[in-house]
Amino acid sequence: MNRTLAILKPDCLEKKIQGKVIQQIIDAGFTIKGMRLIKLTPESAQKFYEVHKERPFYSALVEYMTSGPVIPMALEKENAVADYRKLIGATNPEKADEGTIRKLYADSIERNIVHGSDSDENAAKEIAHFFNESDIV
Ligand code: CMP
Repeated sequence: MNRTLAILKPDCLEKKIQGKVIQQIIDAGFTIKGMRLIKLTPESAQKFYEVHKERPFYSALVEYMTSGPVIPMALEKENAVADYRKLIGATNPEKADEGTIRKLYADSIERNIVHGSDSDENAAKEIAHFFNESDIV
C-alpha cells in the first residue's frame, strides 16, 4: 500500500462540492487514513508550497490557499500517487482528461479544486505537514 496527500482547496469548499469529491475519491478505491478541516495560516501555506517560492504565482497561490478552509487528507491505495493524479487530472483543468475531478469542477490552473502529491517522497513530507503519525488511523 502507498500513501498520498490530497487537499480539498478553498474553491472546493466554496462550491460546496467537498462531499461529491470525497465520494469520487472513495469510489476510485482510496481509503481515507487521515482527514482534517483547517484554515491554513500564511506561514503554513508558504512552507507547504516552498518548492514554488521562486515562481511568479507563489504569492497569489498562498493568498488563495489561505482564503478559506481546506480539507487535507492522507489517502491510501496501491500506487496511490499516480492513481490519485490520474483521478484529479492535469493541473490546468483545460488540459485535464474528461471525467477527472479538475475537468469536472475546476475554474482555472490556480483555482483547481484539489492538490495531490507528485511523488512518494513528497507524499511522505506533505502528509507530515498536516498529520502526526499517531493521527493516521
Ligand atoms: P497544486 O497541485 O496544489 O500545486 C501547486 C499549485 O500552484 C497548483 O496546484 C495550482 O493551484 C498552482 N499553480 C500551478 N501552476 C500555476 C500557474 N501557472 N499559475 C497559477 N497557479 C499555478
